[in-house]
Amino acid sequence: MKTLSAIRKSVRSGEKVACLTAYDASFAHWVSTAGVDVILVGDSLGMVVQGHKTTLPVSLDEMVYHTQMVQRGNQSSWCIADLPFMSDASVETCLSAASRLMKEGQANMVKLEGGERVLPMVKAMSDLGIPVCGHLGLLPQSVEKHGYKVAGRDESSAEKLMSQAQGLEQAGADMLVLECVPADLAKEITSRLNIPVIGIGSGPACDGQVLVLQDILGITVGKTPLFAHNFLAATNSIESAIRSYVKAVKEESFPAQEHCF
Ligand code: KIV
Repeated sequence: MKTLSAIRKSVRSGEKVACLTAYDASFAHWVSTAGVDVILVGDSLGMVVQGHKTTLPVSLDEMVYHTQMVQRGNQSSWCIADLPFMSDASVETCLSAASRLMKEGQANMVKLEGGERVLPMVKAMSDLGIPVCGHLGLLPQSVEKHGYKVAGRDESSAEKLMSQAQGLEQAGADMLVLECVPADLAKEITSRLNIPVIGIGSGPACDGQVLVLQDILGITVGKTPLFAHNFLAATNSIESAIRSYVKAVKEESFPAQEHCF
C-alpha cells in the first residue's frame, strides 16, 4: 500500500502525484491497479453518483459507506475520504466524523474544505495522528454562498490564499488540494509549501493532479469542467483511459494550457 512518506518522497524526487476519485469497489480496483497514487472518495459523489446538484446533501453515513466500498477494491493507493458538509462545523463533530471515516471506512486520510475556520480542526486531528488534507480555492461546500468561481484572481485574495495555505501546513495538514486557482498563484503556493500540493484546474506546477473519474471517462452528465479531459476518447477501455491519465500526469502533458486559468 502507498504510504504518506512514499508520496512525500516521490514529490521530493520531482515525480508528479496522480490522484483520481472513485466511489465503489470495482472502480477502486481498476483505478489502483492502473497506477493511481491517491484515490479520493470525494463528496463529488453527491453529484456524479447520487444525482444531486451540489455536494451539500451528502451525509457522513454515505461517505463512510462509499469509503468502505472503495477500500475493499483498492489494491495499493493511498485513500483520502472527504469530510462532508457540516461534519467539520466544530472540533468535536469533526473528530467524531474523522474517526468514523478512519475506523469504519478505513480511510488513510481525511480532507476538509476551508482556511482559517478549519485550523483548530486540522490541529486537533493532526495531534491525534490523523493525516489531514486541506482544500482551498473553489470550495464546493460553500457554493451556495460563493458560487463556482476561480479563486485568487486579484492581489488581496491571492495573498489571502497564500496565507491560508501556509496556515494549514503550520496547523498540521499533510497535503493540500487547490481547486480552480490561477496557475501562477498555484505555482507560488506549491513552491512555498513543504507538503504535497495537488491541483484541480490549478495548472501544471502543482505536485500532483486530481480529477473526477466520470470526467476522465467522458460520462459526466451535463457540463464537463473546462479543466478536465476525456481520456477514454482516445483509448478502447476504462483501464487504458485511467492508465493514460496517470501517464499524462507523470509526463506533465496534463494539464495543458487549455485546462488552466
Ligand atoms: O469531492 C471531490 O471530488 C473533490 C475534488 C473535486 C478535489 O473534492
